[in-house]
Amino acid sequence: MTIILSTPVARYEEPTIIQIKTSEEVLAHRQGLSTLLQECVNEGSSIGFLAPLSADDANEYWTAVASLIPQGNLHLFIFLSPTAEPNAPPSVLGTIQLLSIPKATHLHRAEILKLLVTPSARRRGIARRLMEYVENFAREMGKEMLTLDTATESAAMEMYRRLGWEEWGTCRDYASWPDGRRCDATFFRKDLGKSS
Ligand SMILES: CC(C)(COP(=O)(O)OP(=O)(O)OC[C@H]1O[C@@H](n2cnc3c(N)ncnc32)[C@H](O)[C@@H]1OP(=O)(O)O)[C@@H](O)C(=O)NCCC(=O)NCCS
Repeated sequence: MTIILSTPVARYEEPTIIQIKTSEEVLAHRQGLSTLLQECVNEGSSIGFLAPLSADDANEYWTAVASLIPQGNLHLFIFLSPTAEPNAPPSVLGTIQLLSIPKATHLHRAEILKLLVTPSARRRGIARRLMEYVENFAREMGKEMLTLDTATESAAMEMYRRLGWEEWGTCRDYASWPDGRRCDATFFRKDLGKSS
């Protein structure tokens, strides 16, 4: 059995986006990330899980993410906000992932995954900040295009349009809602410009 000691969580004076670069850091924030994932699935977002999502299953997902981080293709970012209690760790209000496609023919492209904002902190620009951060990160990596898909009937559709993404198609019955009903998915792309 491998025992991974959890890294102490840093304190922040103001809301901050950080990149999680090690498995230990994912595990240090796992409780907040799991709560966020449970909230989003259990309110009805189609993001890969059926409801009700248990804390154990959410933890298992983030443990799997922790094991992928060292391979270097999956990049994880979290939006942290300081809590009022002096010794409490910051709250995880949002998260996003960027997946580099490790195929020689797809090196110009990366995919956005699991953009999640806690329901009580929505419509305050957190998703916008996370998306801008990741777009800049991808540009600095030399990526020229980002892609993503989202449930066609979701709030995220309007958000991606507002953030300048180009809608290129919808696939009927592509996935399911957390209650098991099939849902359509819409695919988006965004050009980042040629890397020099
Ligand atoms: C979709 C989601 C990430 C938006 O997060 P958010 O922090 O509330 O979004 P922001 O406040 O940054 O909004 C960004 C833009 O999208 C728009 N927007 C956000 N939610 C919207 C909604 N429900 N309806 C219409 N527009 C919306 C905002 O108006 C804003 O545009 P503006 O700045 O021009 O006004 C959040 O609702 C969420 O986590 N949903 C559940 C998980 C999910 O579906 N994720 C996407 C998976 S692909």
